[in-house]
Parts: sequence; C-alpha cells; structure tokens
Amino acid sequence: MRKPIYDMGIFQARRKILGQKTKGSAVIVASNPELIRNNDVHYPYRQDSNFFYLTGFEEPNSVLVFRAGQTPETVLFVQPKNPSMETWTGFRYGVDGAKNNFQIDATYSTDQLETELPKLLMDIDKVYYSLFINREFDKTLLKITEELALKKSRSNKGNFTIEDTRVLLGEMRLKKSAFEIEQIKKACEISCEAHIDVMKAIRPGMNERALHGVFIKGIMERGCNREGYGSILATGSNATTLHYVYNDQVCRDGELLLIDAGGEFNYFTADITRVYPVNGKFNDTQKRVYQKMLTLQKDLVAQVKPGQTREGLQKMAISALTDILLDEKLLKGKREELIEKKEYFKFYPHGIGHWLGLDVHDAGTTEVNGEPRHLEAGMVLTIEPGLYIPEDLPGIPEEYLGIGIRIEDDILVTDAGYENMTEKCPKEVSDLEAIIGKQA
Ligand code: GLY
Ligand code: MN
Ligand code: MN
Repeated sequence: MRKPIYDMGIFQARRKILGQKTKGSAVIVASNPELIRNNDVHYPYRQDSNFFYLTGFEEPNSVLVFRAGQTPETVLFVQPKNPSMETWTGFRYGVDGAKNNFQIDATYSTDQLETELPKLLMDIDKVYYSLFINREFDKTLLKITEELALKKSRSNKGNFTIEDTRVLLGEMRLKKSAFEIEQIKKACEISCEAHIDVMKAIRPGMNERALHGVFIKGIMERGCNREGYGSILATGSNATTLHYVYNDQVCRDGELLLIDAGGEFNYFTADITRVYPVNGKFNDTQKRVYQKMLTLQKDLVAQVKPGQTREGLQKMAISALTDILLDEKLLKGKREELIEKKEYFKFYPHGIGHWLGLDVHDAGTTEVNGEPRHLEAGMVLTIEPGLYIPEDLPGIPEEYLGIGIRIEDDILVTDAGYENMTEKCPKEVSDLEAIIGKQA
C-alpha cells in the first residue's frame, strides 16, 4: 500500500491558520479534473494547488470541505476503493485509507456528495469556493447551495453567500513558511543544475527538443516530480515569442538559445530563464545587448527588499530599458516622451515578474486596497526583464533582428533585502562562454 510521502502536520498547520480566518464558514476546494488526451488516455494528472496545499492528497475526483471550529472540521470526499479500476489506473486510498493516512476528521465517497454535502452546509452562512476549476463539481455545488439557500430563506434561517477562495488562500500562500522556502530552494537548486546540463550539452545542429530532453532528465534524476510549466527552448527568433511552445527547431550556429525552464519539487516550482549562444561565443551585437540586459536585471534584483513593490520594479525596468533602446538607437526621441507613449512596449510587453510557489504564476494579489502591494520577508518573486526584437519589426537594423533576451531569477524577500535562490545558474558572459558545449 502507498503511504503519503509528506508530513501531514504541514497540511494540518495550514488548515489551522485557515480556520482562524474562516470561523462559521466552509471552505470548499475540489481536486483538478482529469483531462482526456485521446480515447481512454489522460494527460498526466497534477493535483490542484489549493487542494494539495490544504490536504496533501493527490487523487482526482475528490472534494475538501473545511468547516472551522465544527465537528467534523475537515471532511474529504474521495473516490472509493475499486480493485478492478485500480488494476488499470493504480492505487486509491479509498474512504478509510484517506481518513487514516491524511489526518482527516471524516471521509465519504464522492458518490455521497449529493446526500452528505447539504448536511455539512446546513448551518453555514458562507461558502468559499472557486468556480471554473472543476466544472463538474461546480454544477453539483451550485445545485446544492441553491436548494439550501431556498430552504433557508423559506424557514427564515438566514441566507447563503459564496465567495471566491482565491483572495483568502492567495493571502496565505503569498508568504512562504520555512518548510515552503526549503522546497522552493530545492526546486531552484535542481533546476540550476539541469540548466547547466543543457549549457554543457548544446551544440549547433542539435534540435531544441533534444535539449529539452536534457533538461527533463536533469530535473527528474535529481528528484523533481515534473516540470513546473511548459519549458521554453527557443533558438534564434523563436525567442521573441514569449511563451514559445514548439521546441522543435534545429539550433543553428550563430544563434542564441533562450531557455525558460524550471523543475517542480514537492509541488513547488522554480522558474529560470537564461540566454546564451548555441556555438559558445556571443557575437559583438549579442554580447553588447546581452551585457546591458544583464546589468539591468542585476540592478533590479538588488532593489528587492521589504517595502519595495512590483510596480516600482517595473517602472525601474522600463526606464532602464528605454535607455538601452536609445543607446542602441532602436528608439529615437526624448526619454520621458518615449516612456509616456509606451514605445518600449513593442520590445518588452510583459511585467517584471510574478509570485512563485506551488504555481509558476503563484497565488496572491498584486494590490491591496487598490494600492501596489509592498514586498514582505517570506514572499518569493521572479525578476525577469526582457528585450525582444521580432524578425519582422520594421526599421530595425539587420544585426538586431530575431534577438530575444530574458534573464530570470527566483528571489526570496528577506528581512535584510533578498536572497537570489537561482544565483548558481550561470549568467555572466565569461561563465557562460566557459561552460557551453563543454560536456565531458
Ligand atoms: N515561465 C513563465 C514565466 O516566466 O512567466
Ligand atoms: Mn517567470
Ligand atoms: Mn520563466
């Protein structure tokens, strides 16, 4: 029999914190749906991050109902044991196994949702639930809550409201615990090593997908469960597509590779981007522009500290990037006017970064009461300025066309300022040139 590989105290502690904020309410989280790839074959399953965050339970067709201060407090609906199905799709904990192994107060079969869930919600005024993640369960819950609301209003027993869980859980997930930081650091450490594997392996003539394979092997053999998101391995002008998905072109002599890839360790992911020449040597234009972008990225990382905002960092990025564009004569005009007219946008059409954690674009709002959120110790964010010059951008000298540069590190905000958790992944020109293609 399988046993949970995680310490259940972690999930219980998170529910305890959640309980302090949700007395009298029910927090309901459904597992991710399974998605069909073709016929009876599914896409690899990965649990919904909020569901995993609160339960550690990885099976589909499950629903968590958490009612702070009530008995039972933590209830899980799970798929029942089914030996013939388990022969095909593997072990299930079942109703008893889930209760005994996951520190859950009461468990039911998912088949019992329609009979048991209304009873659990009878004395509840407010339900936290996020729609549109599990459409099937949305229908069940909306039907149940509609009937309950009707019943309650008829018997004058108050009403029923539903609020999105995203803000509530996002707030909790924003500041990482010591345990969570440890997992992210491990994801970062492994991902840095796998990036180095790719640097050593790259040679002109290789296919992007072969390099992708090197990265996947690198993270998996070091203990990651999977990639944290679809890796981007983009050579030449493919790098100017922000979320390039094909990863199927031949790496050509003279081109740069942009690789944006991160491994997921115990559900926490890294998110690293590096750019370097396929043949191991930057040409003059590549080197000059890359060096300027690297200086800009390092300057931004150095600005991370409690009290800083992502908005502030983005403003600094835009200002410094406009200077680079002027310096390279890719833009002409007055600096402040160019910024005002967002002329940088065609070269840099994204934000400076995002929260990082269980999700690559992690939970948590960027604003609090309409104001930019201040960074606090324990938050984790990426810093990833970019400069993209699409091949077909008119009026740009030939030497720049098709260059795509993004440099991305994963930064932990600390009391003293910051810690760059991906600093072991080379990004200096000399370090890159020393390692590229140097596979033993
Ligand atoms: N890897 C996706 C991103 O950097 O946002
Ligand atoms: Mn990112
Ligand atoms: Mn990325």
